[in-house]
Amino acid sequence: MKDTYILGIESSCDETSCAIVKNGTQKISNVVLSQIDIHKDFGGVVPEVASRHHVKNITMIIEQCLKEAKMTMQEITAIAITYGPGLIGSLLVGLEAAKTLSYIFKKPLIPVHHLAGHIYANNLVEPLSFPLIALIVSGGHTELVYMKEHYSFEILGGTLDDAVGECYDKVARVANLGYPGGPKVDSLAYEGIPAYDLPMPLDDDSYNFSFSGLKSAVINLAHREHQLGRKIDDKNLAASFQKSVVDILTKKTLRAMKNLKVKNLIVAGGVAANRSLRNRLKELCQENGYKVSFPSIEYCTDNAAMIAAAGYYAYQLGRRADLTLNSISSEILN
Ligand code: KG4
Ligand code: ZN
Repeated sequence: MKDTYILGIESSCDETSCAIVKNGTQKISNVVLSQIDIHKDFGGVVPEVASRHHVKNITMIIEQCLKEAKMTMQEITAIAITYGPGLIGSLLVGLEAAKTLSYIFKKPLIPVHHLAGHIYANNLVEPLSFPLIALIVSGGHTELVYMKEHYSFEILGGTLDDAVGECYDKVARVANLGYPGGPKVDSLAYEGIPAYDLPMPLDDDSYNFSFSGLKSAVINLAHREHQLGRKIDDKNLAASFQKSVVDILTKKTLRAMKNLKVKNLIVAGGVAANRSLRNRLKELCQENGYKVSFPSIEYCTDNAAMIAAAGYYAYQLGRRADLTLNSISSEILN
């Protein structure tokens, strides 16, 4: 069978990325330009600044990706593009680049939902086994998804307010750790103990999550201690916060696996890099005879290889977009 080479483009937030993936599983090249250094002075991503940098860099990133792959556009089968959700201005930059390439080189245009991309990041490590539960934990999303086969997404539940990564970033800001806060809180937590008593977020029978109460509890605790002239122990605060997050994520995920009689779990998104979450899920899955997989760290945060991997399956299913394709900010995964 002829090999399929998908060129993926991702620009939904603050990473400008282009990748080429062979047959949905094999990375040929994956170029990611992060704007973290630009946004960290603002404590978070500034949408207008992000889109301007995407405009400046997108052509160079696509050229570099082809160069690293030692390929030409003629050898590419189709172009996969993140059409949403994300920052509209940022999404549009990647979308217009993808449409232009599709038009000039007469290549099919494949629309890919950003969350499908995060899920398919796991396919670059090992082909997905079905049925599976995907726990998506990123800066913008927290979702539990059931998949009975390729490209079939049933949302079991999601966050009712803040995404888990967003909450990590806000807690890091309270502790003056800088942006993005997730990796920093994760490292600090490793050195501390969960000594502070924090609420367990939305501990009910649903598969939904709510992190804003936990975030407020951390902020209030920090302010109270400050007003009382007491120094907060950042390591213990990070460990306490991380324990509450990991407890609820693992509890609801394992319940979904049990109730739906699913034995395969994949974890996706930036927070999938979290050490404590990885360790706890590995332990629990081993105890229960489940298989769990995580993307390699390179594929946890936003990248175009995951979009190209998802794009391969969308391509096989005949999904195509034309030049009227627009960006969306909506969450609906399909
Ligand atoms: O998937 P991603 O690149 O962006 C979205 O699609 O939203 O995820 C970025 C998020 C940030 O909030 C960052 O703080 C968080 O992932 N993150 C982590 C860790 N590494 C990145 N959160 C907790 N622990 C980590 N080790
Ligand atoms: Zn993402």
